Amino acid sequence: HPIILFYKCQIREHLSYSVPEEMRPGSIVGNIVKDLGLEVGKLFIRKARIDTEESYAYFCDVDLKTGNVIIRERIDREELCGEKVSCMLKFELVLESPLELHRISLLIQDVNDNSPVFPKDTIKLEIRESADKGARYRVNEAHDADIGQNTVKQYSLQKNEHFVLSVRDDADGSKNVELVLDKELDREKEHDLNFVMIAVDGGNPQRSGTANIHVTVLDANDNAPVFEQAFYKGSLPENSALDTVVVSVSATDADEGVNGDVTYEFSRISDRAKKVFSLNSKTGEIKVIGQVDFESNSKYEMRIDAKDGYGLSSDSKVVIEITDVNDNAPVVYMKSLMNPIAENVSPGTEVGIINVQDRDSENNGQVRCSIQQGVPFKLVPSIKNYYSLVTTGQLDRELVSDYNITITATDEGSPPLSSSKTVQLSVADINDNPPVFEEQSYSAYVTENNKPGSTLCSVTARDSDWRQNGTVIYSLLPGEVNGAPVSSYLSVNGDTGVIHAVRSFDYEQFRSFKVHVMARDNGSPPLSSNVTVSVFISDVNDNSPQILYPAPEGNSFMTELVPKAAHGGSLVSKVIAVDADSGQNAWLSYHIVKSTDPGLFTIGLHSGEIRTQRDISESDSMKQNLIVAVKDNGQPSLSATCSMYLLISDNLDISYDEKNSKLTSYLIIALVSVSTLFLTFIIIILGVRFCRRRKPRLLFDGAVAIPSAYLPPNYADVDGTGTLRSAYNYDAYLTTGSRTSDFKFVTSYNDNTLPADQTLRKVHQTLLMRLEHHRIHWR
Ligand SMILES: *[C@@H]1O[C@H](CO)[C@@H](O)[C@H](O)[C@H]1NC(C)=O
Ligand SMILES: *[C@@H]1O[C@H](CO)[C@@H](O)[C@H](O)[C@H]1NC(C)=O
Ligand SMILES: *[C@@H]1O[C@H](CO)[C@@H](O)[C@H](O)[C@H]1NC(C)=O
Repeated sequence: HPIILFYKCQIREHLSYSVPEEMRPGSIVGNIVKDLGLEVGKLFIRKARIDTEESYAYFCDVDLKTGNVIIRERIDREELCGEKVSCMLKFELVLESPLELHRISLLIQDVNDNSPVFPKDTIKLEIRESADKGARYRVNEAHDADIGQNTVKQYSLQKNEHFVLSVRDDADGSKNVELVLDKELDREKEHDLNFVMIAVDGGNPQRSGTANIHVTVLDANDNAPVFEQAFYKGSLPENSALDTVVVSVSATDADEGVNGDVTYEFSRISDRAKKVFSLNSKTGEIKVIGQVDFESNSKYEMRIDAKDGYGLSSDSKVVIEITDVNDNAPVVYMKSLMNPIAENVSPGTEVGIINVQDRDSENNGQVRCSIQQGVPFKLVPSIKNYYSLVTTGQLDRELVSDYNITITATDEGSPPLSSSKTVQLSVADINDNPPVFEEQSYSAYVTENNKPGSTLCSVTARDSDWRQNGTVIYSLLPGEVNGAPVSSYLSVNGDTGVIHAVRSFDYEQFRSFKVHVMARDNGSPPLSSNVTVSVFISDVNDNSPQILYPAPEGNSFMTELVPKAAHGGSLVSKVIAVDADSGQNAWLSYHIVKSTDPGLFTIGLHSGEIRTQRDISESDSMKQNLIVAVKDNGQPSLSATCSMYLLISDNLDISYDEKNSKLTSYLIIALVSVSTLFLTFIIIILGVRFCRRRKPRLLFDGAVAIPSAYLPPNYADVDGTGTLRSAYNYDAYLTTGSRTSDFKFVTSYNDNTLPADQTLRKVHQTLLMRLEHHRIHWR
């Protein structure tokens, strides 16, 4: 019948098997698979094993293939249990994941493998010839190591003239075997008698033992010694010192002299008792000569003979009881342990089974068990003397990776004894931490024209997990920079996180870009995180100024017309240059390096505007030639030069003086001229469309107009400095009409890509707008 002992719905059963002793190794006792409803295939995985506190373990084993419990070694009931009526071996069957414990008790049945044995081969009796018929003489009973049916059952006596046998059961379960005198003895006829006594047991087949009985017939006057008590009882605490007297027996003999000297000897004593007690043959004192241990034997029984000088004897029984002393500390056994424990086990998981034992009895053997404070584990009492070690909280390997758990067991003896056991529990890693970058974002600064392969910066991510779960691998997340894959710009070293440039960067192409770097661990499944790396490219003065207007040397057939009437300070033309660099590297200055008439024209240092320095006189040469150098402010500075041809002409000689006072009418004229301009513009646009790349000369009407064809995409003039900056929108200075007015036309570079009619509409709108918002110079 299974005894259900449970913890957390795990039913643990108590299996009982019964086997005869002396079975051959390999014999099958039972089958745990059948009896516990387990799965055969799982026994191996669940590490099914037989476990036991004492040294019985090697008697039994579990065959993991079949689940059979088999005998490993011959079991001798007599050796294991002696005279105990019930000989039970106790084992535990331990199964892991989930932990399960079943008790198995194995009852060892007796087999009739021992014959009855008399204490002595020859039983000597001395009987006076005066003894009456019916007198009784005790003989020591035979002993059979087996139990129950297999012990001595019957005695019989070889047929003889004088004696018959009387066997009575004693109150303590032993037999009282006596020879009864049936016919008086006569010393004159026989001095000695010899016959055989037989003891048979109740086993099948029956076994027997014999003893010779030798009777000496004595003279009438002899007396046998007589014990003062028929039964002696002594009590002794275990661990008593050697030579402690437990009990003294005493017998008296009515005879005098040598015949009355009584000596004592053990007539029947077990081998165990012989090692612990001695009997003083003269005084009858029983003393301790060996280790008295309650746990191995708590009660000793022996018989003592008292003999006189004639050899007449009588016997008495001595029982010595041993009392328990708290001399055994409890012992903590780790029956099963899940080690290491995964850090993600839920609180309340059973990770181990602990058994405590105390060999003492009663309170001395009552044990309480505890665990130290401050660890996320507790002990939950299970079946008697068993505890489950259970987690009480979430484990985190990254916080605590090992626990030393000390389990202390204390008994209730006085004084109490205790012992403790420390087990080291490791926490196994789970990939529960993604790599974390040390910084939220990274920036790398690089000067343009860098060498491909140069190091830009490095990123670092940490992952607190263990081994491959914490090994970080870096990679670039796919993406695009200016339409090209990021991998064509940068590479990252997967192991070190060092970022290299794959190519040389050009500040003029782009000034910065962003990439995403991913750090991934090597766990399964892997965890990752990503970070933004911004790369900033700084400028190097690697571009010389580029002169847009007038066209560079070599194509210098363009000529500016200057009205002869122009006063000093009049704007006659403008040099327009751009520099693809930025900042100081693109800050341009304009210088006239050579001119036909050095005093006539000046150039704005930063505007590039060419103005007359004085009024033009008749003596001035009609053809003026200027060589203008444009320099940037980089270190070292780069420069470009161009030639400008100016033609002083009469045709454009207009006087503006009176018109200054008639502002209003000129405003009207301005509006009209704007409309005209608009028409002109259409013509210009159409002209530009037709004459693009043919360097059109458009300015004979006096307007200083720079067609947009001279402006590179992405560039716009700002601040009127003649410096064009890269932008998606640009402002172009179109100096329209005459040298007397300059309108700032704003248009979008994107308009270049628009169909012509849209462009025109837009330009027209812009013109009207500008008229309202921009100053008009009148001179
Ligand atoms: C546990 O005990 C071992 C051995 O005594 C020691 O090396 C280790 O540091 C201890 N661990 C903890 C967490 O106390
Ligand atoms: C890494 O984590 C996984 C679960 O996420 C675990 O199974 C594995 O044992 C861990 N590896 C190490 C080396 O701890
Ligand atoms: C990068 O990380 C952000 C947040 O940390 C996340 O939302 C995003 O999905 C990640 N991108 C990739 C491609 O993993």
